[in-house]
Amino acid sequence: MITLDINKVFGFIPEKQIFDRAKAAESVNIELENGTGKGNDFLGWLHLPSSVTEAMLNEIQKTADDLRAQCEAVVIIGIGGSYLGAKAVIDAISGSFDNLSNKKPLIVYAGHQIGEDYLHELSEFLKGKSFGIINISKSGTTTEPALAFRLLKKQLENTIGIDNARKRIIAVTDKARGALRTLATKEGYKTFVIPDDVGGRFSVLTPVGLLPIAVAGINIRQLVSGAVEMEKATGKNIPFAKNPAAIYAVVRNELYKHGKKTEILANFNPKLHYVAEWWKQLYGESEGKENKGIFTAAVDFTTDLHSMGQWIQEGERSIFETVLSVARCRYTVEVPEDKDDLDGLNYLAGKRVDYINKMAELGTQQAHVAGGVPNIRIEIPELNEYYLGQLLYFFERACGISGYLLGVNPFDQPGVEAYKKNMFALLKKPGC
Ligand code: PA5
Repeated sequence: MITLDINKVFGFIPEKQIFDRAKAAESVNIELENGTGKGNDFLGWLHLPSSVTEAMLNEIQKTADDLRAQCEAVVIIGIGGSYLGAKAVIDAISGSFDNLSNKKPLIVYAGHQIGEDYLHELSEFLKGKSFGIINISKSGTTTEPALAFRLLKKQLENTIGIDNARKRIIAVTDKARGALRTLATKEGYKTFVIPDDVGGRFSVLTPVGLLPIAVAGINIRQLVSGAVEMEKATGKNIPFAKNPAAIYAVVRNELYKHGKKTEILANFNPKLHYVAEWWKQLYGESEGKENKGIFTAAVDFTTDLHSMGQWIQEGERSIFETVLSVARCRYTVEVPEDKDDLDGLNYLAGKRVDYINKMAELGTQQAHVAGGVPNIRIEIPELNEYYLGQLLYFFERACGISGYLLGVNPFDQPGVEAYKKNMFALLKKPGC
């Protein structure tokens, strides 16, 4: 099981203050399950892990296998909640150099920004390659993915013909509504449904995340089993002291009340970079409203110890850190002996690189706590599908509890419309 350690918070807020919130946390957890809280029409994610059917997994796997067999590259189109979960899992589990090796299919992304050069370079990259497209959009009208899809669909049709292109395009979208559903029906694309009651940032365990993850050759059954385990461990009957999601939710809220307005998610494994990006959206979009909410930031250590490390150690004391630590590496690399020892590293000869990383982690924790930064630590036994499934669900559940403790609706995002309204007016979109 992944574990949560909050011991390095007690120097900032007393343990009693946290446990005094036990009843409040238990009661909002029950509110979540009973569907009596704010945003209760978006609670489909709550029991998603235990309700994923064998038939659904088989269908996703079969579609993924077909794409894998046909394609040298698969383009995943989506933005925000329609892409970050898949990217987080694919980056965490795949080999660091998979996309530079001969491993097939290459996984590439589009529709997650509006970069003209990026789209040109992607189009050039795909020339001469057999490629497929997974287009993920609940609304079907989000500008970024719609733009990318229009371009890539044309390229695919021009290359292999309209009929063949139809067999290489999969749409993941609303079951009945929206432009992508209409287009998919018209063109006869294979489709998967994003449930009505699951918002984008909570959708990683629907086909939104599971299909691209399976296409990348990652075991979706293990991912879902890990999430099922965490669903049980954080359920409404689990007492506060045994519920890691409830504890994490309370601790971050108490720190927030104590003036710690920014939470930095730190990892000591570069493969977790996009897990942090996913987490940033999950918490930022869920809690940043009504002029309140913790600002979510992320760093990759030890890389960022050589940049943001200064700010974290000595900048404004308004931050706390949540560290993702992976207990066991997949491979072993030992420091070799060197006869000249010009770099002075012989004292580490024979030691594993991960031992050095762990000492960096411990030293960083000691320094940051001494420097006034409360530290929450989440330990992941190994970076595999099972524990990642646990981690994703842990964060989702804690986010629901945390948002309710903060007093907001964690399942809406009214604020993201403001820029779109302006952009559409500037672009002179008809009707805007
Ligand atoms: O969490 C969310 O709801 C957003 O990030 C959406 O997922 C994102 O804006 C993409 O929307 P859509 O899937 O409708 O294209």
